[in-house]
Amino acid sequence: MCADKVAKLSVNGKSYDLPMMSPVLGPDVVDIRKLYDEADVFTYDPGFTSTAACKSAITYIDGDKGELLYRGYPIEQLAAQSTHLEVCYLLLYGELPTKVQMDDFKTRITRHTMVHEQMHYFFRGFRRDSHPMATMVGVVGAMSAFYHDSLDINDPWQREVAAMRMIAKLPTIAAMAYKYSVGQPFVYPKNSLSYAGNFLHMCFAVPTEDYVVNPVLEKAMDRIMMLHADHEQNASTSTVRLAGSSGANPFACIAAGIACLWGPAHGGANQACLEMLREIGTVDRIPEYIAKAKDKNSGFRLMGFGHRVYKNFDPRATVMKESADEVLELLGIHNNPTLQVAKELERIALSDDYFISKRLYPNVDFYSGIILDAMGFPTSMFTPIFAISRTVGWISQWKEMITENGKIGRPRQLYIGPKKRDYIDLPNR
Ligand code: SDX
Repeated sequence: MCADKVAKLSVNGKSYDLPMMSPVLGPDVVDIRKLYDEADVFTYDPGFTSTAACKSAITYIDGDKGELLYRGYPIEQLAAQSTHLEVCYLLLYGELPTKVQMDDFKTRITRHTMVHEQMHYFFRGFRRDSHPMATMVGVVGAMSAFYHDSLDINDPWQREVAAMRMIAKLPTIAAMAYKYSVGQPFVYPKNSLSYAGNFLHMCFAVPTEDYVVNPVLEKAMDRIMMLHADHEQNASTSTVRLAGSSGANPFACIAAGIACLWGPAHGGANQACLEMLREIGTVDRIPEYIAKAKDKNSGFRLMGFGHRVYKNFDPRATVMKESADEVLELLGIHNNPTLQVAKELERIALSDDYFISKRLYPNVDFYSGIILDAMGFPTSMFTPIFAISRTVGWISQWKEMITENGKIGRPRQLYIGPKKRDYIDLPNR
């Protein structure tokens, strides 16, 4: 709290001094917790564009500088030198692990990668053509029907076990959703493989032949996972926090986060973006789509473009673009038409006054789909992979909220409905 800083507010002829708080990084905040009690007014911010919903020490984003820090470490340095599992440790516990700590963490995660055998039967209840996100919402929520020894949110040990289980099992569940959708048998996790390599193996191995993980694809998958791991108070993380504030069990909270992530304005954008790039098809059709995106009546938006916070560039998109070049070069598809359309679309959009004036830049979803497509994933698996990555962020933020012992999240409203009126019985209506 800054003792010397107050925000002065005048409402209905009365003045109020609202205390202010200064962060380690970022803008000061005006503490309005007592505003309603003192001034009998609410604030109004439906998209939370100017609202800090919590204190957090996990991730910092500077939208103007295009800066993303996980526990203070720049995403560019982590992408170049770390691994997704090491970043999971960093996000969960706040510091980079020593070798001993990392070995122990890796062993704990590895030993939790299998799901209860009976969970296999869940999948048979879904149609084969179900979207894998529908399956993941269902199966992850149902984990609370199996892992009763990690449901008590007030027991630090049970919180820890629930965290390990979800970080470890989300890849297995996502891979099972994929295998089920293509009619192939489930592939069990392999403890000898890395976190990213194991996921590729569970998705693409078949019983009839050996599957060797391609190290370049493994590194690209690991980097995609790391880049999506956490992102401050985005829509799905806020969903997890709000669900957690009611005391719901951790599996139910993460299932709520997966449901929110599915939307095309959020995590569903990577699937929508690749489908858009494919629909554009060739570079000569780009102007037609740029015009549609600028036409308010079209209802069309360039998927993978724009961001609530980044008003300069999304540092993750920069790293992702480098990965796209590497992966496609390795696979010998560097003249990939979709990548050519993406790069030309980015070039044209970034020189167009509409996009410049609205500060719209490619976000994390613009290039990720191109890499996942090149790896052989169907577009329906793009958001499940985002969910695997973001699980550690959701859990880290959920743990932070639980230990804060915060109040239940319960926003108010600006009521614009009918005034109080008496019931009218049917004959008189
Ligand atoms: C993710 O929050 C996070 O951190 C999310 C995320 C994470 O890691 O968790 O980063 C992941 O969700 C990335 C975003 C993925 N979504 C998309 O790529 C979908 C396309 N983008 C948009 O729908 C939009 O840009 C949002 C939802 C991402 C951000 O929306 P905002 O901040 O609420 O901005 P807005 O909708 O108010 O748009 C501001 C203006 C509008 O024009 P005006 O009404 O002011 O005239 O910009 C326009 C919009 O019409 N605009 C776009 C556009 N995005 C915004 N116009 C064309 N194409 C777009 N993509």
